Amino acid sequence: MNPSDRRTFLRRSALLAGLSLVPGQMARASTAPTVPLIPQPKLGDIVTLADAEEVARAVMPSDFFDFIQGGAGDEITVRWNQEKYRDIRLHQRVLTDLGRLDTSTSLFGCDMPCPILFAPTSSNRILHPEGELAVARGASATGTTYVLSTLANTSVEEVAKATQSPLWFQIYVQYDLELTKDLMRRAEAAGAKVFCLTVDAPVPGARSREEKAKFKLPPGVGLPHIVRRREPGMFTLERVVPMRFVWSEAEQLIAYAKIPVVLKGIMCAEDAEIAVKIGAAGIIVSNHGGRQLDTVPATIEVLPEIVAAVAGRISVLIDGGVRRGTDVVKALALGAKAVLIGRPYLHGLAAGGAEGVAHVQKILLRELRMALAMLGCRDLSAVTRSVIWEPRKD
Ligand code: FNR
Repeated sequence: MNPSDRRTFLRRSALLAGLSLVPGQMARASTAPTVPLIPQPKLGDIVTLADAEEVARAVMPSDFFDFIQGGAGDEITVRWNQEKYRDIRLHQRVLTDLGRLDTSTSLFGCDMPCPILFAPTSSNRILHPEGELAVARGASATGTTYVLSTLANTSVEEVAKATQSPLWFQIYVQYDLELTKDLMRRAEAAGAKVFCLTVDAPVPGARSREEKAKFKLPPGVGLPHIVRRREPGMFTLERVVPMRFVWSEAEQLIAYAKIPVVLKGIMCAEDAEIAVKIGAAGIIVSNHGGRQLDTVPATIEVLPEIVAAVAGRISVLIDGGVRRGTDVVKALALGAKAVLIGRPYLHGLAAGGAEGVAHVQKILLRELRMALAMLGCRDLSAVTRSVIWEPRKD
């Protein structure tokens, strides 16, 4: 065994030995030793979201890690999502009277201690045996709003019981609208406060890394919201069948919903304009974390034109590449009401279950507070374009 294979083997063995396992993982555990060969991660050692990613990489089987980490094509948009935040510079202010820093906000009647939500992500039970329940508990511990995915491995009814924080529900339209409507009523009855209707996935993206890793859901890990099973990643080279889902149908679903509907996956001003016209309560500027169409711009690049087109008529949120408190500030300064994170809380989940999820959120909130203090912003209403540094023209 070469050193890198051995390291992968040791990492996997440690994971499999250290957790109570879901059935699919157990099948892989037959060669696992009874004690971990490397220590379980200490959350205190995770100081940044990048650290959480490294720990997740270390403890997870590589095919699972590739599934969450990967994007579409050559993953250029995945990289841009993070890099473009780094190109934006901040305008520091000193000696302002900060009083008590307040990061709280409210969206669609949901009060939030900070403008950072958990984006919908599929199949959380591959990362931790408690899967979505652990995310819900981590969300609850930090007052975070969690958007549960249609492709979750745990039902909306069970997840709703595990969190005191607002629960939103993400919708993938399934074959026909009637099935989708049934699922909407079910999520409303379970207590979902807002729907995020994902509109950027007429087909799955070309997830080359995921395909090479041959990622599959382990046996026994189900998809309780899928009526007729539509597997994630069912794209094959031979057959790509676009789902029939168009604006008029999105409008029907918005009219059918008893709770606000936010469209997730808007990347240009023209589509934002239509979203407003058909009655969306908000939009999420999102490229699906770079998992759908490679080489579309970073979300932070298109945010300003979308905010300008929407002109305050509905709320604009953003996700993709948010890894630092300063990124949150930049998104708010360019007009977003809130941000969502995807991969970072999954890294926390893999590193330490519910506690790991809460730990990641606390890191980001702490960094956000530091940034606000040094920008002279006492609360989120003070975060305007003026916090972005521009070179002087004179
Ligand atoms: C996702 N995303 C996603 N989006 C969605 O609407 N429904 C879903 O089921 C999923 N599933 C999913 C799984 C995994 C593993 C990832 C990483 C992402 C996209 C997600 O909601 C969000 O748009 C991105 O994750 C945001 O980018 P970052 O924060 O991961 O960079």
